[in-house]
Amino acid sequence: MSARKHIVLSSDHAAIDLRRAIAYHIAAKGYEVSDIGPTTTESTPYPQHGAAAAKRVASGDCDLGIVVCGTGQGIMMAANKVAGIRCGVCADTFSARMIRQHNDANMLALGARVIGEGLALEVVDAFLGAEFEGGRHATRVDMIKALEA
Ligand code: RB5
Repeated sequence: MSARKHIVLSSDHAAIDLRRAIAYHIAAKGYEVSDIGPTTTESTPYPQHGAAAAKRVASGDCDLGIVVCGTGQGIMMAANKVAGIRCGVCADTFSARMIRQHNDANMLALGARVIGEGLALEVVDAFLGAEFEGGRHATRVDMIKALEA
């Protein structure tokens, strides 16, 4: 990974405001941000946006991804269908840190109808601020990867 991490963001129509707040927040912290939309509040299906962001991460174009829908659940499920993606929904900072440290998650999903902006930004900070610890956790993550084979 480069010193300046490249983060891809996407959402469905239910989470545009939170996605934009996250983009502003992490850009101000120095991350390179690719916000791939959508740009209007017109109803749009979360699977296509989750998959689009996941493909940017799986291809290596972006280091990590953050996806947002109403609950975070649907867009997480879609992202996890892309090979190489490990995405978890978090509504607390402990889980957000642990999915990086123990599960080597490369994507975070948030529910814009579940948590407020203040907590969401702290969850994002916890996710982006943590690193995979490797060791015994690498063996377990390798078992997840093997399920894709
Ligand atoms: C959209 O109404 C809503 O279903 C979606 O944002 C998400 O919560 C799905 O998991």
